Amino acid sequence: MLLNFCYSMNIFHFKKDLQESINALKSKKCTIGLVPTMGALHQGHLSLTKKGLDQTDFVVVSIFVNPTQFDNPKDLQKYPRTLESDMDLLQTLSHDKIIVYAPSVEDLYGNDVSSTHFDYDGLEHEMEGRFRTGHFDGVGTIVKRLFEIVNPDNAYFGEKDFQQLMIIKKLVEKYHIPVKVIGCSIHREKDGLAMSSRNVRLSPERRESAPFIYKTLVEAKTRFKTQSGAKITKWIAQQFSKHDLLELEYFIIADIKTLKTVKRKSGKKQYRGFIAVYADQIRLIDNIALN
Ligand code: PAJ
Repeated sequence: MLLNFCYSMNIFHFKKDLQESINALKSKKCTIGLVPTMGALHQGHLSLTKKGLDQTDFVVVSIFVNPTQFDNPKDLQKYPRTLESDMDLLQTLSHDKIIVYAPSVEDLYGNDVSSTHFDYDGLEHEMEGRFRTGHFDGVGTIVKRLFEIVNPDNAYFGEKDFQQLMIIKKLVEKYHIPVKVIGCSIHREKDGLAMSSRNVRLSPERRESAPFIYKTLVEAKTRFKTQSGAKITKWIAQQFSKHDLLELEYFIIADIKTLKTVKRKSGKKQYRGFIAVYADQIRLIDNIALN
């Protein structure tokens, strides 16, 4: 059953209806892209969807605030839920090639709202994994479930959550899931702040100061040409210690394959700088390629 009450777009709230529609498309040899999201969509999410529309015949955008990946119940409670404006934004891209899947917790979890434990060969112990207990178990649980339901040809994830992207690639490799995982570059506001569903919760004062995060990342990139990882990390900590409105949680320069902190730079490896900052209660993350 297609639910078309208020939108001219295809939206499904139940996996069995979604699967019926996908099966019909697959029987006509159509390819399917999947863009998993938690809604409160912005241009970053749309850039993933656009890439999907360029590369596959139909794109399923899932909109689901996944309870098992939140380590902080307040964050889960305050997470913006804006299905109507999400639909409006998606319609600016296409009316007939996007399928929205906006399920209830029950449709995805039944009565057991818990996550499976995953071993991502250590990727889960770094950065976000250190500061958000169980987060990547929750992410793996929901993304694996979405892969099983949608069975997409391609799936699109943003480099904004670079560690998540690497973990999903690992999940796909370990479980032999037949999907191509495609990473998409970070979409930023004009002032450099990485787009995030959390940005709307920033006070005007903190919103104004938040581009400082990207500015320091860009400076770190310049310094990376001549300075050691340790020296840059120290410099970043100093910059944030002088800042009244932003509190640094971590800055790490890591090898993009292992996500382990760089000890001695090697010309053969690729590195990124990863940062997490609190603006009052709101946690913002960003990262930058350094070489
Ligand atoms: P969410 O934060 O809604 O992000 C959905 C996708 O959009 C992720 O792949 C994320 O990296 C990407 N994204 C967010 N902001 C972006 C930006 N500024 N530029 C480019 N891409 C951006 O990530 C999640 O949801 C969840 O963990 C999810 C994968 C849906 C599992 O619940």
